[in-house]
Amino acid sequence: MKDTYISEAIRYVGADDKEIDLFEGQYVVPNGMAYNSYVILDEKIAVMDTIDVHKTGEWLENLARELQGRTPDYLVVSHMEPDHAGSVKVLAEKYPKMTVVGNAKTFQLIGQFFELDLTGRTLTVKEGDTLSLGSHTLQFIMAPMIHWPEVMVTYEQSEKVLFAADAFGKFGALDAEEDWDCEARRYYFNIVGKYGAQVQMLLKKAANLDIQTICSLHGPILKENLGYYIDKYNTWSSYEPEDQGVLIAYASIYGNTKAAALKLAELLKEAGVPRVAVTDLARDDMAEALEDAFRYDRMVLAASTYDGGMFPFMEEFLHHLKAKNYQKRTVGLIENGSWAPASGKLMRVALEGMKNITVAEPVVTIKSSMKDSDLGKLKELAEALA
Ligand code: FEO
Repeated sequence: MKDTYISEAIRYVGADDKEIDLFEGQYVVPNGMAYNSYVILDEKIAVMDTIDVHKTGEWLENLARELQGRTPDYLVVSHMEPDHAGSVKVLAEKYPKMTVVGNAKTFQLIGQFFELDLTGRTLTVKEGDTLSLGSHTLQFIMAPMIHWPEVMVTYEQSEKVLFAADAFGKFGALDAEEDWDCEARRYYFNIVGKYGAQVQMLLKKAANLDIQTICSLHGPILKENLGYYIDKYNTWSSYEPEDQGVLIAYASIYGNTKAAALKLAELLKEAGVPRVAVTDLARDDMAEALEDAFRYDRMVLAASTYDGGMFPFMEEFLHHLKAKNYQKRTVGLIENGSWAPASGKLMRVALEGMKNITVAEPVVTIKSSMKDSDLGKLKELAEALA
């Protein structure tokens, strides 16, 4: 059973979703997803965010268990994405005297998502505003575009708890036995990656607070070694590589481009590159490929030519890289084509649209299949990247 006790006054009331097929309609979550929600019990009671509609029933039961017959005074809405705000209407209708707390953009979005009359029941807050619950005081900190415009985080001053919205969250149910870094990194780059500048701004504001506990809307409650997680967020949001290594991402039709990619992996390992990750863009999780692209300082793209363009999986990968602000990396290219190889040029053009990308030379061209005569150029590329 989950530990729902964060402190005497702060309780976890969220739920795990293990039936979900795709989070946000696109990300595989083999270990499910946690939708976190909390309640603060004081003279006044505040519920901190609601839950996805698929878990409304379980969440209401959890909440009732902690309320023990009392009625919430406030619902703080830190983020309107439906994985958290899906049950706002249900709660507002269940407790007609409860005040909903948000900022101006929150209420605009509530009006768009729900037919719900909150007249006389809203409290609009802005940067730095506080709300006393008795011995607990909530301080609101705006975090726009992490990763929606209405996002705000809440610092509870007496227990020094940061209710961090999506920040510091991860994929995976709360009872998933897995490393935080891997699924937090995949979550960060795919969902928040585009908004590094905004995360940097929030980290600067957070640096002025004495934070003892981080309660994210996803993943475990963080109570120890907080500097570790904050450092990771600082690295990720500044687009600096986390590790030395090379990701080789290939899009291969019949396996010939794949063979060249695997040969290069061998050559890079021989040249002493500490970590070489290889991913098949047609078959492996593209969200993980994106995560590894940001994790390492170097990358190789290997693609067949198809219909005069790139094999579509590479085109899609480059689209995601651009959308998430991929930058500050060195990238090598391998193209393959049987009569008019074009993928190398097209990949280079796509990379030119990203900031501070260095294309390693030479670009290797394979004609149909890798042959001994191609090894020289592959070795040169390995040396340029080592
Ligand atoms: Fe967890 Fe952006 O919602």
